[in-house]
This record gives sequence, structure tokens and C-alpha cells, in this order.
Amino acid sequence: MEIDLYLRSLFFLFLFFLPSISAVELLDTYIVRVDADAKPSIFPTHAHWYETSLLAATASADGITDFPPGGFLIHTYSSLFHGFSTRISPSTAASLASTPGFLAVLPELVRHPDTTRSPEFLGLLSSDRTGLLAESDFGSELVIAVVDTGITPGHRSFADSDLGLAPSRWRGQCVSGPGFPASSCNRKLIGARYFSAGYEATSGRMNESVELRSPRDTDGHGTHTASIAAGRYVFPASTLGYARGVAAGMAPKARLAAYKVCWVAGCFDSDILAAFDSAVADGVDVVSLSVGGVVVPYYLDAIAVGAFAAAEAGIFVSASAGNGGPGGLTVTNVAPWVATVGAGSMDRDFPADVKLGNGRVLPGVSVYGGPSLDSGRLYPLVYAGVAQGAGDGYSSSLCLEGSLNSEAVKGKIVLCDRGVNSRTAKGEVVRKAGAVGMILANGVFDGEGLVADCHVLPATAVGAVVGDVIRKYIATSTSRFPATATILFRGTRLGVHPAPVIASFSARGPNPQSPEILKPDLVAPGLHILAAWPHNVGPAGIPSDQRRTEFNILSGTSMACPHVSGLAALLKAAHPDWSPAAIKSALMTTAYVKDNKGMTMLDESTGNFSDVFDFGSGHVNPQRAMDPGLIYDLTAVDYVNFLCNLNYTQQNIKAITRKAADCRGARKAGHAGNLNYPSFSAVFAEDGSKRRMATHFIRTVTNVGNGAATYRATVQQPEGSTVTVEPMELSFRRSGQKLSFLVRVKAETWEKMAPGNSRVRSGSLTWSDGRHSVRSPIAVTVQAPFS
Ligand SMILES: *[C@@H]1O[C@H](CO)[C@@H](O)[C@H](O)[C@H]1NC(C)=O
Ligand SMILES: *[C@@H]1O[C@H](CO)[C@@H](O)[C@H](O)[C@H]1NC(C)=O
Ligand SMILES: *[C@@H]1O[C@H](CO)[C@@H](O)[C@H](O)[C@H]1NC(C)=O
Repeated sequence: MEIDLYLRSLFFLFLFFLPSISAVELLDTYIVRVDADAKPSIFPTHAHWYETSLLAATASADGITDFPPGGFLIHTYSSLFHGFSTRISPSTAASLASTPGFLAVLPELVRHPDTTRSPEFLGLLSSDRTGLLAESDFGSELVIAVVDTGITPGHRSFADSDLGLAPSRWRGQCVSGPGFPASSCNRKLIGARYFSAGYEATSGRMNESVELRSPRDTDGHGTHTASIAAGRYVFPASTLGYARGVAAGMAPKARLAAYKVCWVAGCFDSDILAAFDSAVADGVDVVSLSVGGVVVPYYLDAIAVGAFAAAEAGIFVSASAGNGGPGGLTVTNVAPWVATVGAGSMDRDFPADVKLGNGRVLPGVSVYGGPSLDSGRLYPLVYAGVAQGAGDGYSSSLCLEGSLNSEAVKGKIVLCDRGVNSRTAKGEVVRKAGAVGMILANGVFDGEGLVADCHVLPATAVGAVVGDVIRKYIATSTSRFPATATILFRGTRLGVHPAPVIASFSARGPNPQSPEILKPDLVAPGLHILAAWPHNVGPAGIPSDQRRTEFNILSGTSMACPHVSGLAALLKAAHPDWSPAAIKSALMTTAYVKDNKGMTMLDESTGNFSDVFDFGSGHVNPQRAMDPGLIYDLTAVDYVNFLCNLNYTQQNIKAITRKAADCRGARKAGHAGNLNYPSFSAVFAEDGSKRRMATHFIRTVTNVGNGAATYRATVQQPEGSTVTVEPMELSFRRSGQKLSFLVRVKAETWEKMAPGNSRVRSGSLTWSDGRHSVRSPIAVTVQAPFS
């Protein structure tokens, strides 16, 4: 209460003085972390301390003493992290950073939000009721926090039939607001909050005719991801006739709490951190964060800092790897205390082939569900790049807003290039110009990865190779033989081989912050996922789309992440004593790397085999994760040692962990890769000498099976390296026992590489007792020096 009033008065001060402050220096948002115990006793509350320090810092930075604080408190953080966010000048921020008791001053970063089939595909809907779902009672005592664009109350996926009261430890709230009456929560959706102060401090007051100041989802992304994690069984579910079947989340009885942090202009770190802070205080078990896109050192990354405190409090945090693939070094949310999830396909697709006037039929995909093209009729086909209206050929080739000449496209099928604007927005541009259909072609960079969308006109997506075939066909057409085409929509196809395939867009390693930790950690279904959708948002996700659908099909690592969040809840329900690291270990060491044809999973972008930088430990395998045999466990102390071995300063470590670290022991004991992680990454810099490149890892595994067991190691050698394990046998006398082993990696025969290039080779270490198979990938990276 006291703090509330206090904040309000500061807020008024801020509004009043804003013009004169901004005349001095531009303001930015900063997140300030303090050492809560360092509050001088003269201040009655932390807020007093913050205000006085702000005042002093502003004065010393700007030489003004009779001024109110050079900002106001946007959020105060008090559960996982003590501190506040504020708008101040960079010089005030610098001055604040040197105030005693102030641990870190982080600049605000802005991020963006990056099924019927997946439970079956993951083997969760077994009829015998003895699987993971049954053993975990579907996770009804667990709460999953979805930090996203909000949620749609009243959706069938969030019905609370046959659910008991919320878990007694739950302390969350159902915050009401426009479009979200207090009655919006139920025994399924047990909490809902929104955080917009950081967003509005930077972007100005939100436009409430476009978005709602409440937990209500006006975008669709958050509703979709929440129902993937914990949606109820809904039958029949489909979108415009596609993917018909039972829709169900991973943990259909787990409770949901929605924390809305993403707005029209993005998701602001100060708000994300406030959501983490609330979620921890509210008593959630899992945080699901399908947001990413910025890679900075861990001590400047609010998601990494928030997730650390959550992990320390026993909360499992999963995050999307990002959609920046297929290029290397694109993976985001890479802290070792986060489960970083990439995306794979399922054994389902939505073929929509292109038939050309010359008789050729070329493969494409689509979930367009409106009136079809006339069957048997071929339509004139034109390349958008030669149909420019107001703009140039470049913007018309991409079908950007207002770039097409109606005369040139009317009544035709238009070929557009992928890129710049959204795929469904291109469809709207083409439709408005009077065309009857659209073919969306990948460029060389997109490769062969295809995403089926709910377009507003008959449309299909084709790969780069097919795109070139069609472009060539159009270019060689003549007035005697004009280019023509049609699109053949073939509906939903199940039983596709091979599956899973790594989605083109799925972000790839190596880990740009700490290559000693292999990222992504694993992959889960993220391509063409059917899940809940708001009643008042069109499935194409563009404002002009007036169609309405209860479910929608989306693709992205955003969709992969909540699969792992839901599975983590089920695992925690079945194993309440497991730490977040133990749950992650179980998911990683039981993941598979072979597809349903028995071959290493393919990379959709090239059609070649994928590797550890694409899938980490592999694809999640929930039934096996239930009973992993051994786990690689971790505590906060291990993470501190890891940060020491990254050579972070005391100040930087404190920004993440709050406590002073004694790094002497950690540095003596090893290197960053020596964290007790369930995967191995050896990173060598080749220095041109004949020196052998060698390193070692010490790992400790805990027996979580039933009683005594003897495990033997099998090593699949990475090409050009030698891996040895000591001892090769681990004999556990009882459950809960821990045993350690040593893994040595020597890289020997590597071919010459161009300066600055790196190359990865992978192998694996598997511990087996005949019943369990505990597999860890071993990545060996050799980097040639920059010349
Ligand atoms: C808010 O959005 C509506 C709809 O786009 C627009 O007409 C209106 O001008 C906007 N208001 C403000 C204050 O920007
Ligand atoms: C795919 O594999 C083939 C054969 O190994 C190789 O020649 C080609 O360069 C690979 N393509 C890509 C894009 O890596
Ligand atoms: C940390 O510093 C040590 C000693 O200078 C060096 O050997 C090591 O490679 C550094 N580690 C990292 C991750 O930079």
C-alpha cells in the first residue's frame, strides 16, 4: 500500500517535470539491481532508498540539485530480484552504477514473440493409461506461467471441468481490465496479470482501441502457446477444415497463469522481469517464455537474470531458441539454467501443389481454407517483380504494401518472393490488387523450409528450388505460350516420412555467449501446430482478416517451447523432488536423434542430415524422460562456478546471482565446459602449431532408478577426435547415489580451414544398464585463428 501511494506521487512528479528533464538529456529505461541487504537503515523502505539514490545520481550526473529524481520507478522488483526500473539519462545510469549497494544497471532491451497432433506424435496419448500422463495425474497440482501476449478467457481449451481448487500454495491474482472481467479466471486459468509500464515508458501511452490494458490477448500468440503447454482436450478442433482431430496440450490438467508482457511494439525487458518477479512470488512451477531475439552477455540479459533467480527457486524455465535459422550462431536464450528449445516438424503436412501450364506439378504447402480456385482451370501466371505499380521492381517482387499494379495482376496467380513483410500480409496485398491466387517462393537464404499459412486468398508456399523452376517457366513464356498455373489443395496428410525434420527457421548453434555449453538443448514440435486462437482475431493475424476460427495453425520455436514447458510440468508432477536441472537432464538424455525412417533427422533447409548445432541433444521423447535412469544435476553453486570460469568480474557475477562469488576454487577446478551439464562441448582454438588440442570434463550422475544398477559407457567417437571415459563402468548400490567420471577429448586430425572458420564434429556418450540409455552428445569445435 505504502509503496503504491509512493509510486503514484513519483509518477505525478515525473509527468510534471518531464519536459525540462528531456531538454537536458534523452532518457532511456534502465533496470537497476540492488543488494537488498545493503539498504542503509536510515531509509524506512527500499523505495525511499531507491528514490534518494536516484536523486543523488541525477544531481551528480547533471549538476542539478534542486530537481526531482531524473525519472520515476516503472516497476519495483522484490521477489526474485531486488531493484527497480526507471527512466533516466545515460549519465545518471553511470553514476547510479557506482552507488554502494547497487549491483547492476541493465539497459532496457526489446524483444518479440518469436495441437491436435503433437500429443500423439510424442506418444502421450497411449490407451493403456500407464504412461506419463497417468503417472503425473496430468499435472493438476502444477502451475505453468506463460509469459506472452496474454490469454483468451472462456476458450474451450481453458475450461475447468473436473479440476479441483487451485493448489493451496497459489498466491497469484486474476487482474481484471477491459475485455477481462474478474470472472475471466477459473480453476484452469488461475492467474492473469499484465505488465505495460516499461512498454509505455518508452513507447508512450498505448492506443486502447488497438490493444487492451488487461491480460486479454488481442494478438493470438499467447493463447496459442498457453494451450500448447496446458490446453484441455477439445474435440473436434481444426482450423478452416485442416488438421481435424482432438486438440490437447501437453499437460491438460496443469493450471495456467498468464503474464502479458508483449504489446504492439514488442516485449520490454523491464516488463518481462516484473513478470518473472510476480510469477516466482505467485508460486508457479514452470515459466514458459516464447520470446527472444537479443543475445548479450548474461549479466546484461534480463531474461537470463530473471531465469537464474527462478531456477534458484526451483522453477523450470523453458524458452524458445529463436527463429533466426538456418544460419549458424543464431540461437538465443542460451543461459545454461534455461532449457533452450528448437523446432522440428511432425509427421503431418498440408500439401498444396502448383500445377503449371506445361503440365509440371510442383510441391507446396498451405492451410488456406476459403473458396477454392475453379477446378481444372489454369489461370494466367505472373511474377510480381514485373508487375510493379507505384514502387520499384524490388518491392513489387516481395509484394510489399501498395507495390503491385492492379492492371498487371488482375485475375491472375501472382508469384511473390518471401521476405521483409509477413507471409500473410503479402497475400492481402495480392488480394487487394485483384489477383485470384498467390505462390510464395523462398529465396536462396530460406532454402527449402516451408511454412503453411492461413492465407486470405488461395495461396501456397514453395521452396527455393521450385521457386526458380516457376520463375524460369514464367521468363521463358511467350505470347503464344503464356504462363499459366493453378493450385491443387490436398488437405491434411498424416504419416509423413521422414519426420521429425529440423525446421529451417529453427535457430542454430554454436552458442554465441558461451560455446562451451551446447545450444539449443533440444527440439520439440514447432512446425504447423494447431492450438487455441482468440475468437476476435483472424487466423492470418492481419487486421483486415475478418474470418474467425477457434483454433489456428502456427509455426515457430515459440510453439516448440511450450511443448517442453508442459512436459516439464508432467515430469515435476511425477517427480516432485527433481530440480529444474534434473528435469532438463531427463528430457535431454532421453531425446532421440533418428527420424521415423531410422536415419539422423534431416535439416529442412538443405535436405541434408542435421547435427548437434541444429538439435542439441535431440528431439524430446516424453515417455522415456519419465524414467531416465541417471540425471546430471546442478545447483546454483555450479552456475556460479561456471560464471567464474567465463572470467566474468565479481560485479558481473553479482548482477546475475546477487551474491559475491569466490572464484578461486572454481578457476582451479576447471573451465566453463566443466559445468555438470547433460551435453558436452569441447571448443579448441587452432593456433597453427602441432600442439595437440585436448581437454577434459568431470561429470557426476545421480542414480534415479529403483535401487542398485550398473551402467556401462559406450562412446561414439567424433570424427577426428578421440574421446575416453574413466571409469567405463559405474556401479550404484542404491537409488539417489552419485558417482563421478572423467571424459577426455583430444582433437587430432583436422584438415586446414580458412582463417576464422570453425568446424564441428559430433559424437556421443551413452551410459546404459540394459534398461535405461542415458545419452549425451559430444560436440568438438575447432576454430581456425583469424589471420
Ligand atoms: C488508435 O488506433 C485507431 C485505429 O487504428 C486510430 O484510428 C486512432 O487514430 C489511434 N489513436 C491514437 C491516439 O493514435
Ligand atoms: C548437403 O550435402 C551435400 C553432400 O554432402 C553437400 O555437397 C552440400 O554442400 C550440402 N549442402 C549444404 C547446404 O550444406
Ligand atoms: C579465462 O581466462 C583464462 C586465463 O587467462 C583463460 O585461459 C581462459 O581461456 C579464459 N576463459 C574464457 C572462457 O574466456
